[in-house]
Amino acid sequence: MRKFAKAAAALVVVSALALSGCGSGRTDTAASGSASAAGFAKDAVIGVALPQKTSENWVLAEGLFNDGLKTAGFTPSVQFANGGVTEQQNQISAMIEKGAKVLIVGAIDGSQLGTQLDAAKKAGITVIAYDRLLTNTPSIDYYVAFDNFKVGVLQGEALLKGLADRKGTKTKWNVELIAGSPDDSNAKVFFDGAMSVLQPKIADGTLTVLSKQTTFEQVVTQGWKAENAQKRMDTVLSGFYQKAELDGILSPNDTLARAAMASIAAANKPLPVVTGQDSEVESVKSIMAGQQYSTIFKDTNKLVAQSIVMAQALQQGKTPEVNDTKSYNNGIKVVPSYLLAPVIVTKDNAATVYANDKTLGPLTKG
Ligand code: GAL
Repeated sequence: MRKFAKAAAALVVVSALALSGCGSGRTDTAASGSASAAGFAKDAVIGVALPQKTSENWVLAEGLFNDGLKTAGFTPSVQFANGGVTEQQNQISAMIEKGAKVLIVGAIDGSQLGTQLDAAKKAGITVIAYDRLLTNTPSIDYYVAFDNFKVGVLQGEALLKGLADRKGTKTKWNVELIAGSPDDSNAKVFFDGAMSVLQPKIADGTLTVLSKQTTFEQVVTQGWKAENAQKRMDTVLSGFYQKAELDGILSPNDTLARAAMASIAAANKPLPVVTGQDSEVESVKSIMAGQQYSTIFKDTNKLVAQSIVMAQALQQGKTPEVNDTKSYNNGIKVVPSYLLAPVIVTKDNAATVYANDKTLGPLTKG
């Protein structure tokens, strides 16, 4: 994730607002945002509930929401819930009390907010799930996210390409799998996307997982915590790779990729091909230095801007634009979604993808 200057962030919001007016996507007439019939005050409170600071993208979102919502004329109430699920539940209740007209929710655990979301619906608030789907609740109106399944597919494909590029003297490779936190509804979707590419290669013997840990439940990383992934990788390495070489690691994000690489370094093993996600500064440097193989660029500026565009449409009494009405079923209903496209990044295209990034400076291949 890249850190843009505040002025640039505001610009992104403004241009996204302009773009939305051009009708660049499909409009879903069936969606039922409860505030869409009448609209509401231009300076209304918009509540933004963010999870824990488990990766740089979440930290960036906080500032972008505050600035972007203010620029659009709203009164933002943006809060992290570093203390956990109960704190997030309390924060959402407080936002409802404050009279929020829209709730934008990046859930810690999307299945644990049902009571609060029901209360929000009763109060006539429109609920937008941000980045992570809110599951097993009817009290959700929209979902705005990068296509999470696609993220996983890109990671699986990058792992295969990296193995061919870097370990191409072999045709069969040993790999291990890491998934994100089981309470985050994205984690399983990332994993399923990746396995849609990797499972056939495990089945035909191209890939072998020596630990035999291939189910989501076996490979999860509680709380997206680096130390949990590193601990598991230490155990896997000492248990199964004393003699064998580990060629590749599917990692769902950059934090866990670096944790896995730390485990490899501590065990004095040759560097495997390691995937990632989030374009974190340390990982982009690592990619340019020829270490971590890939990451995913999900422009937080765009995701936040799109969420604000939705709030603006609701404020004007319009139905927000969506571009997908079939992919994301939350267990109760298919949620009308606005999905943005994730971009795979390796050393080959990093300079192009991050060309507008002011914080990294010119990227040179090391
Ligand atoms: C996910 C998010 C990822 C990553 C992860 C850990 O829900 O989509 O980009 O940041 O959380 O924070």
